[in-house]
Amino acid sequence: MNADPKRTQTSPMTVVQCKGIKKAFITPDVSTYALRGIDLRVNEGEFMMLVGPSGCGKTTLISIIAGILRHDVGDCTVFDKNFSTMHPDDLLRFRGKTIGFIFQSFNLIPTLTVAENVSVPLLINGMGRPQALTKAYHILREVGLQEKVNTFPNLLSGGQQQRVAIARALVHNPSLVICDEPTSALDQETGLKILDLMHTINRKRKTTFIIVSHDSRIFKYADRIAHMNDGVIERISNGHDGEHE
Ligand SMILES: Nc1ncnc2c1ncn2[C@@H]1O[C@H](COP(=O)(O)OP(=O)(O)O)[C@@H](O)[C@H]1O
Ligand SMILES: [Mg+2]
Repeated sequence: MNADPKRTQTSPMTVVQCKGIKKAFITPDVSTYALRGIDLRVNEGEFMMLVGPSGCGKTTLISIIAGILRHDVGDCTVFDKNFSTMHPDDLLRFRGKTIGFIFQSFNLIPTLTVAENVSVPLLINGMGRPQALTKAYHILREVGLQEKVNTFPNLLSGGQQQRVAIARALVHNPSLVICDEPTSALDQETGLKILDLMHTINRKRKTTFIIVSHDSRIFKYADRIAHMNDGVIERISNGHDGEHE
């Protein structure tokens, strides 16, 4: 398919590499083996989806990849960094610069305006407020919210709030964006628009995306789909016009 021999020889850069990841939640009452040996590789620029039934370990896995949660066994590297061996301060700094996170429930700060919410990752990374706000305005224009920069989040629709969350996840130009069920609180049409926006950004900026979703209608956007069940990845299928379930 690819006529350019130079391109076929160049293997894509690995962004995430998980090998044999295990994670258990142990309490006096109950032990849950949430991840039971995960092997996963995500390449630079990929739009990767992670699907599977509720409770199969999706959030646990992406939390480990994002450096929010520690695994018990196995190796996980993100841009060749092993979070388990990093100093917590270095991890915070690296994560703050490299990774953007989009949550199911938007997690916007109600007392800050839209632009202030979006500028938070830049302020955390040490940028001055005027410059951070200017960057926030730019990215808000990119997600179609230029009219709403001085509004407060609770005056926006769900779809608009998720756009603010996307802008916040992208404002510091992270190389990897991780999304936990970003459309599940939205109606179908709005959810598709949000996915379309993320896909456009993926293609334009070559940002790598890992997206957890239950929603088979959005599989068409994926480069690859990892199917999880009961703490393992059972198989990986092709997205786009490959396999739709
Ligand atoms: N902090 C926690 N303490 C105890 N059990 C947890 C915790 N987080 C997740 N679990 C359990 O681990 C399993 C996987 O959870 P999760 O990764 O949230 O699944 P998913 O995102 O696929 O719905 C579930 O059985 C869940 O109840
Ligand atoms: Mg989850």
